[in-house]
Amino acid sequence: MSRVRHILILTILLAAPASAQNLDSLLAGMTLEEKLGQLNLLSANGRASPQQMQLVRAGKLGGLFNVIGAENTTPVQRIAVTESRLKIPLLFGLDVIHGYRAIFPIPLGEASSFDPDAAEATARAAGQEAASFGINWTYAPMVDIARDPRWGRIAEGSGEDPYLGSLMAAARVRGFQQNIFATAKHFAGYGAAEAGRDYNETEISPRTMREVYLPPFKAAVDAGVASLMSAFNDIAGVPASGNAWLTDTVLRREWGFTGFVVSDWTSVAELIPHGVAGSRSEAGRRALTAGVDMDMQSSIYVDSLAALVGSNRIPMVVVDSAVMRILRAKLRLGLFRDPYRARAAPANVELRALARRVAGESIVLLKNERSLLPLDKAGTIAVIGPLADNKEEPLGPWHTQGRAEDVVSVLQGIKTKVQTVLYAQGSGIDDTSKAGFAAAVAAARQAKVAILVLGERGDMSGEAASRSSLGLSGVQEQLLEAVAATGTPVVLVLMNGRPLILEWASDHVPAIVETWFLGVEAGNATADVLFGDVNPSGRLPVTFPRVLGQIPLYYDHRNTGRPPDPNNKYTSKYIDVPVTPRYPFGFGLSYTTFAYSDLRLSAARARATDTITASVTVTNSGSREGTEVVQLYVHDVVASVARPVRELKAFRRVTLKLGESRTVDLRVALRDLWFIGLDMKPIVEPGTFRVYLGPNSAEGLEASFECIP
Ligand code: NOJ
Repeated sequence: MSRVRHILILTILLAAPASAQNLDSLLAGMTLEEKLGQLNLLSANGRASPQQMQLVRAGKLGGLFNVIGAENTTPVQRIAVTESRLKIPLLFGLDVIHGYRAIFPIPLGEASSFDPDAAEATARAAGQEAASFGINWTYAPMVDIARDPRWGRIAEGSGEDPYLGSLMAAARVRGFQQNIFATAKHFAGYGAAEAGRDYNETEISPRTMREVYLPPFKAAVDAGVASLMSAFNDIAGVPASGNAWLTDTVLRREWGFTGFVVSDWTSVAELIPHGVAGSRSEAGRRALTAGVDMDMQSSIYVDSLAALVGSNRIPMVVVDSAVMRILRAKLRLGLFRDPYRARAAPANVELRALARRVAGESIVLLKNERSLLPLDKAGTIAVIGPLADNKEEPLGPWHTQGRAEDVVSVLQGIKTKVQTVLYAQGSGIDDTSKAGFAAAVAAARQAKVAILVLGERGDMSGEAASRSSLGLSGVQEQLLEAVAATGTPVVLVLMNGRPLILEWASDHVPAIVETWFLGVEAGNATADVLFGDVNPSGRLPVTFPRVLGQIPLYYDHRNTGRPPDPNNKYTSKYIDVPVTPRYPFGFGLSYTTFAYSDLRLSAARARATDTITASVTVTNSGSREGTEVVQLYVHDVVASVARPVRELKAFRRVTLKLGESRTVDLRVALRDLWFIGLDMKPIVEPGTFRVYLGPNSAEGLEASFECIP
């Protein structure tokens, strides 16, 4: 090495690269092995193994994930910044999806709040807690639109709607990135897995990709997300982790994304079983040249690409660009200045208060015949079901460091409010024993009301948890029927990670409360709602079908040439079930009622560059204070491409006192009414737009305006 070059490198090492110029010099001094090392990401098992530490020392690792606790991240970071030749700090990743140790509602549940501020707050708190344990990068938010509840990962996202999904994506990115880097995943189309079978192929038209699946990613990018994760699935034969159209054309060239893309777990190596690469090095070449910068867990970049770079089958500039994106991220995160990033943990009382508040907002009241709810705290209450006295399942899937001991069970929550509680487990979650039925029935007979807590285990949703039937598993449905047969009024409290098929319950049980997996404060938040200390305000972020055969069922479908007509057989419907869902998107009841009147639009005609304001009077016409989620949907009546019957374009949570009326204004910029035109470019076409304002996707007042050229 020349003396000049030696001095240059020494200078770089001594001066932490606090600027982009320094990164250029740093890159110039890196060997090919060190460059490929920065692109290498491995999972630890709680702590780094001796082999992984050796890789860090040799500059062959850019980041580690699943290193748990600052006592484990700090020593490895020390090796990186003191013992490796170039002293480049490591990223420490973790799936902080809905909390680190203080677990908040699963994202699908939180999306029911229709409250992006709440999502931002929990993401910020989770990020802060994770940062205090040495984590600087989370693999969240998951922003995949999902229209098939068989797919277990529907639990991790914000449901079926691109608009709600985009607001939630941006909010979570903002929240996490106050403390750690976020990752919008899984880019893209993973939620469209055929038949809801995880990792399955997808068949997404370019138009649907842009209109439905990509917008939440775009929103995350616009919110400044540091990284994206490339998905496992293929899109019409082109795997997302080797898809230059996605990770280069759309992401970098069209959207101007300057962060980095990490693969999903071994998704680079999986290009081989996908059938688009014949060898590891070919898989690595395909992924890297497509724009996947960091290789999670395949070790292909670091082990198999040097030769291809040497023979110029991978241009050095491709490697350099990827390395620069990782280095810039580390610079932006402040790791060169402060590799350990010690953060104070948020106070536990604050975490719990936030968890309880957001859990309360996430609960959706699906049915409440004759105002059975809220319950009076006096008298004997039977609490029944395998999820009632359960502290593990409310944590849901992906609960990282969440612990059952931190969870308030539903039974505990109820006991803090009610004196006489009779508890019986009744059954397991998915076994077939009915041995507990008699005790459950006996408890119900002695009580004025029976609360049944039924649903899924946490691991029945999430990754690799697709289900082919969506009823209550095991003998839970029979338990419900047996208890209902006593004549004691039944409240069904559901705990689950996806829409369930609730045919019998919806017809026969007077009150149904969807609580999803609410996290550490599940029991308190559920009891707050059951006994009226919190008036439920959650709304469904996803359609609940009546029967499995209706899936996929989502509100923003197109009209067809033969919209369903009960009096005409030859229209688009089933002969054995209605086309309508059991509970539509946006639906949720309150303990009060809201009346809508006097819908006005600020203009009858507007240009594509204008904004229209829709104003509606909402009156709390019921019996107590409550929060309504006022929703605005639009339908483009005639366009060159058929448009969905409704698309959510704005919403607002409004809290109204008993008897209070308020004018609620919702603004829609006409430029947001774009769709992908015949030439595959976004366009807002002149013509009539219908506007619906109401409580959910199936109801509401109607008005219309003209978009003029
Ligand atoms: C695989 C999952 O698909 C992804 O969401 C997750 O972030 C990674 N594993 C890392 O745990």
